Amino acid sequence: MEVESSSSSSTESRGQTEDTLMWSRSRSQSPLQPGRRNKRRICLWATFLVMIILGLLFLILGLTVFKVKHPVMIVNSVAVRDLDFSLDIARVRVVFNVTLDVHISIKNPNMVGFKYTNSTAFLRYRGNDVGQVPINAGRIGARHSRSFNITLSLMGDRLLANSTFYSDVISGTVTFQNYIRVAGKVRILFFSIHVVSYTTCDLDIHPAYRNLSDPKCHYKTKL
Ligand SMILES: *[C@@H]1O[C@H](CO)[C@@H](O)[C@H](O)[C@H]1NC(C)=O
Ligand SMILES: *[C@@H]1O[C@H](CO)[C@@H](O)[C@H](O)[C@H]1NC(C)=O
Ligand SMILES: *[C@@H]1O[C@H](CO)[C@@H](O)[C@H](O)[C@H]1NC(C)=O
Ligand SMILES: *[C@@H]1O[C@H](CO)[C@@H](O)[C@H](O)[C@H]1NC(C)=O
Ligand SMILES: *[C@@H]1O[C@H](CO)[C@@H](O)[C@H](O)[C@H]1NC(C)=O
Repeated sequence: MEVESSSSSSTESRGQTEDTLMWSRSRSQSPLQPGRRNKRRICLWATFLVMIILGLLFLILGLTVFKVKHPVMIVNSVAVRDLDFSLDIARVRVVFNVTLDVHISIKNPNMVGFKYTNSTAFLRYRGNDVGQVPINAGRIGARHSRSFNITLSLMGDRLLANSTFYSDVISGTVTFQNYIRVAGKVRILFFSIHVVSYTTCDLDIHPAYRNLSDPKCHYKTKL
């Protein structure tokens, strides 16, 4: 094996020296032969063409893939649909049921469709999930908006014996948060780009009046 390989390499090197010999011979013959000159011209044109194609490719990428924008989620309104509570002062317990109607819209600012996966809207109390509702996967067309009416309910029994919750209800204002995250993909050329949009709103609910203050929402996006 070793012998064979060494012999082949020697023939290779011999071929190389022949090549270089031929090359130097042709160089010494000036002016250049027309065939060789054509080859050189073709080579130049090919290089030029490749550069143009690369330039166009980068331009297209710059105008499309790197121009991908995140969908924009907006909370249009939050309203109390139902609110019932009863205080059990003797046992420091509160039975509290609330159902919120959350109206959101998601705008896809891209020139292509946005496909989102199954998502969830959460209702949170001091960082803990106390209610959730699914948002089924779907698609939003290019430069289109879609609105969703989400019904968030508090799973009341979770906070039944919570003293913090109890004192919040007594104080007249209970602060909840809704957290909605919608993630998906935007497809451009052969690229599938992950985009996500999420929002959290602080909801100050006044149980005695069955209403809430204007929600304070924070919107975030990331690539
Ligand atoms: C809250 O809802 C539960 C179950 O849906 C019900 O049993 C309970 O009576 C409700 N509490 C109030 C205060 O309406
Ligand atoms: C999304 O949710 C629907 C309905 O709940 C379900 O049928 C489907 O399998 C889910 N898709 C994924 C990818 O989990
Ligand atoms: C959501 O509710 C609002 C007002 O309650 C209504 O105008 C809108 O059409 C509803 N949207 C959907 C998608 O059901
Ligand atoms: C009440 O809820 C808060 C927030 O969810 C939690 O930090 C606290 O530990 C709970 N207290 C009790 C007694 O369960
Ligand atoms: C809630 O309702 C009460 C009584 O109707 C009212 O005085 C209060 O301004 C309302 N609060 C908000 C934030 O709408």
